[in-house]
Amino acid sequence: MALLVLLAAVLVLEAAVRADGQTGFLSIDCGLEADDSYPDDLTGLTYVPDGRYIDGGENHKVTTVYRNKWWGPDTRTLYTVRSFPSGEGQRNCYSLPTDIGSKYLVRLEFLYGNYDGLDSLSLKFNLSLGVNHWNTVSLDTIDGNDDGYNVYEVVFVAWASWAPICLVNIGQGTPFVSTVELRPLGILPYPAVMGNVSLSMYDRCNVGSSPDDDELVRYPDDQYDRFWFTDAYTEADPLSTNISTQSTIQPSTEFAVPSPVLQKAVVPSGNSTKLVFFSDQLDALLHDHFVILHFADFQNKKSREFTVSIDNGVQSSPYSTPYLKGLSVTGGWSSNSEGKYNFTIAATATSALPPILNAYEVYGRIIHDNPTTFSQDCFLSIDCGLEADDSYPDDLTGLTYVPDGRYIDGGENHKVTTVYRNKWWGPDTRTLYTVRSFPSGEGQRNCYSLPTDIGSKYLVRLEFLYGNYDGLDSLSLKFNLSLGVNHWNTVSLDTIDGNDDGYNVYEVVFVAWASWAPICLVNIGQGTPFVSTVELRPLGILPYPAVMGNVSLSMYDRCNVGSSPDDDELVRYPDDQYDRFWFTDAYTEADPLSTNISTQSTIQPSTEFAVPSPVLQKAVVPSGNSTKLVFFSDQLDALLHDHFVILHFADFQNKKSREFTVSIDNGVQSSPYSTPYLKGLSVTGGWSSNSEGKYNFTIAATATSALPPILNAYEVYGRIIHDNPTTFSQDCKLAVSIGL
Ligand SMILES: *[C@@H]1O[C@H](CO)[C@@H](O)[C@H](O)[C@H]1NC(C)=O
Ligand SMILES: *[C@@H]1O[C@H](CO)[C@@H](O)[C@H](O)[C@H]1NC(C)=O
Ligand SMILES: *[C@@H]1O[C@H](CO)[C@@H](O)[C@H](O)[C@H]1NC(C)=O
Ligand SMILES: *[C@@H]1O[C@H](CO)[C@@H](O)[C@H](O)[C@H]1NC(C)=O
Ligand SMILES: *[C@@H]1O[C@H](CO)[C@@H](O)[C@H](O)[C@H]1NC(C)=O
Ligand SMILES: *[C@@H]1O[C@H](CO)[C@@H](O)[C@H](O)[C@H]1NC(C)=O
Ligand SMILES: *[C@@H]1O[C@H](CO)[C@@H](O)[C@H](O)[C@H]1NC(C)=O
Ligand SMILES: *[C@@H]1O[C@H](CO)[C@@H](O)[C@H](O)[C@H]1NC(C)=O
Ligand SMILES: *[C@@H]1O[C@H](CO)[C@@H](O)[C@H](O)[C@H]1NC(C)=O
Ligand SMILES: *[C@@H]1O[C@H](CO)[C@@H](O)[C@H](O)[C@H]1NC(C)=O
Repeated sequence: MALLVLLAAVLVLEAAVRADGQTGFLSIDCGLEADDSYPDDLTGLTYVPDGRYIDGGENHKVTTVYRNKWWGPDTRTLYTVRSFPSGEGQRNCYSLPTDIGSKYLVRLEFLYGNYDGLDSLSLKFNLSLGVNHWNTVSLDTIDGNDDGYNVYEVVFVAWASWAPICLVNIGQGTPFVSTVELRPLGILPYPAVMGNVSLSMYDRCNVGSSPDDDELVRYPDDQYDRFWFTDAYTEADPLSTNISTQSTIQPSTEFAVPSPVLQKAVVPSGNSTKLVFFSDQLDALLHDHFVILHFADFQNKKSREFTVSIDNGVQSSPYSTPYLKGLSVTGGWSSNSEGKYNFTIAATATSALPPILNAYEVYGRIIHDNPTTFSQDCFLSIDCGLEADDSYPDDLTGLTYVPDGRYIDGGENHKVTTVYRNKWWGPDTRTLYTVRSFPSGEGQRNCYSLPTDIGSKYLVRLEFLYGNYDGLDSLSLKFNLSLGVNHWNTVSLDTIDGNDDGYNVYEVVFVAWASWAPICLVNIGQGTPFVSTVELRPLGILPYPAVMGNVSLSMYDRCNVGSSPDDDELVRYPDDQYDRFWFTDAYTEADPLSTNISTQSTIQPSTEFAVPSPVLQKAVVPSGNSTKLVFFSDQLDALLHDHFVILHFADFQNKKSREFTVSIDNGVQSSPYSTPYLKGLSVTGGWSSNSEGKYNFTIAATATSALPPILNAYEVYGRIIHDNPTTFSQDCKLAVSIGL
């Protein structure tokens, strides 16, 4: 009941509640004695000793400051260090608590400060993330210009419930560390980060601020506590001019670069119409690099339009900087054998103003040889109406189902008695034998509180099998579902004339905005609400790009195209590691007639959408000589006024060229795609609208394609808008904005 008590308390206190900050932030002051936790003056964050997170090592205090003019001496967090005297090759690892599938930044700071009395001129040791090399720490105190300080950051997706961050002795000095900071990145995209690729920060620059400002921007200005440095490893040419504003700039939801960073910028000096930045060092880390540029306009509102090109590569389409709003542009991975990089921002011919640059980030790539996958560890599977202590492993999936008493107040337990149709997979499914029902008046809500991690993406699925649990032999039942305070969908169950089985399933994909998500059943006067199962599945790094703090996806159709409905073969966990349901029956029709094809060959899922091989092994191609596939909805649904379509492809026919374009709702035709042989490929459209809630999509072979188009699976979602945009912060105070 703990969750419900929390829920009730939150509701009563409404916006007055202000939780005691920093949930999700872990700030470690290494070498601190046990119990010496303290709030840092600069940030207000609480720093804790490191004893709980590491074994071994010695505590020391810095004694010498090698350079006056730097911000270190004011920084209490750097006064103590933990050092690891050991032989070459030895590793010492911090174990940091993480949530599988969530994105994190880890930052390590090092201030030598002659803690060992040896007055070393230079020290080097390596860092690793798990078993993979991350970077080499290099510290110098030579001739007083260097201060023996450095900072290293890595961005990664957690593959387990802890992340090992290791210091490796490479025979060039004793490894030590001053601070270790763990910051969840919530919904920040950092699109290059995946299960097998992490980002090692090389440069994150607050362009246009003087290094003499000594003004590091971090938390609380940056809600994710990224460090925005004033000094940089990148040079500008031609000479640029620093400009700044006092006006507040609204950060983009996407990268949330803080206003104090965007308030400073550079423009070209003189009459130049371009800015060229290039690296002034060689760095092996940067053989593969990833550049992110951040823009915001704060000059007079004349038009400013420019293109971007990285490493003299393809010139982008033109961007316009929004006035007093952030805009971020990411390139792809780019390679250079020497580890050099550069980027050019050039005004278009029609731009009234020269280009601008407010901030940028450059990352190197860490490859994880053992791709890290996410397991069912964090699944929550609830068999509603089960008696307390009746948990059991499900035969079909091996997943453990638990009773629902901990997640809901009220309701009655019942058992189904009647199966309305023989030919369906329900009767074999123990999870559907019991239900919890909520006899109540019209307008009443009953909510399950599901435990979530703020900023993580989840799928929640509810199944309903009426099964005459109430002895009333109802022909039809309707009630609503809501996610938080927002309408999600209407449950509709029929048992009329034995064709319908009184079963249905509903899924929603959302980003958690608090440490629990309320999923509610709402009585609308058309029958008593009940539910058979509630399943919560973290989606880890699956993109589902349409999901944001203020937009969730309500599943309408997720179809394993090309399989016969008679197969009764629902694909789910363990085939799908995220336990999405891939249905064989569909609400979408194909025209012209299509032919089902299939293969026994294993198909490698894409890392992006991870559609399982058994789904991709079945597909349709057009019948006869047709060179296109047209799919269209056969129902009207208010939910689909705004809809989002995802198409999944994989080729398994003879290796001739297959190339096609995609268009959704007769909209813009995409650039041509080629299906990789025995590998998954997914294509997402944008949001598309139709006043009747109809949708369609066309896949058409290009003129040069040897083969007709193919389609292996698709997903269609409706949109749930959250009126109170949900944002993510270092504390829980926003959790209350939902107020039921
Ligand atoms: C230390 O890092 C360097 C590159 O920065 C690498 O060449 C070397 O192999 C690493 N040594 C160990 C023991 O990981
Ligand atoms: C302008 O900003 C750059 C860093 O972006 C800095 O190196 C330079 O000193 C600044 N110039 C002035 C005049 O402040
Ligand atoms: C800038 O352009 C103006 C007019 O086109 C010209 O008079 C001036 O000399 C130019 N200045 C420089 C520094 O190129
Ligand atoms: C930018 O990078 C490309 C590719 O590495 C290189 O050919 C070009 O010379 C670089 N330009 C500058 C200004 O550094
Ligand atoms: C129930 O859902 C329908 C749409 O599916 C909506 O029109 C109606 O307002 C909802 N009723 C309540 C009480 O949420
Ligand atoms: C969601 O929020 C972002 C920024 O806060 C906004 O640009 C977007 O329009 C919002 N979407 C909806 C559907 O309200
Ligand atoms: C082909 O697949 C569709 C579903 O994608 C199904 O409705 C149809 O019955 C299948 N046809 C055959 C001959 O199996
Ligand atoms: C990461 O994994 C995906 C598929 O598992 C693969 O396509 C991609 O090349 C991998 N990236 C690296 C750098 O190994
Ligand atoms: C398919 O094309 C072939 C050759 O172009 C033609 O002979 C045949 O009649 C066509 N079949 C159909 C069903 O259109
Ligand atoms: C597809 O959708 C568009 C836009 O809603 C509509 O104009 C067109 O008739 C539809 N086509 C089919 C085949 O349903």
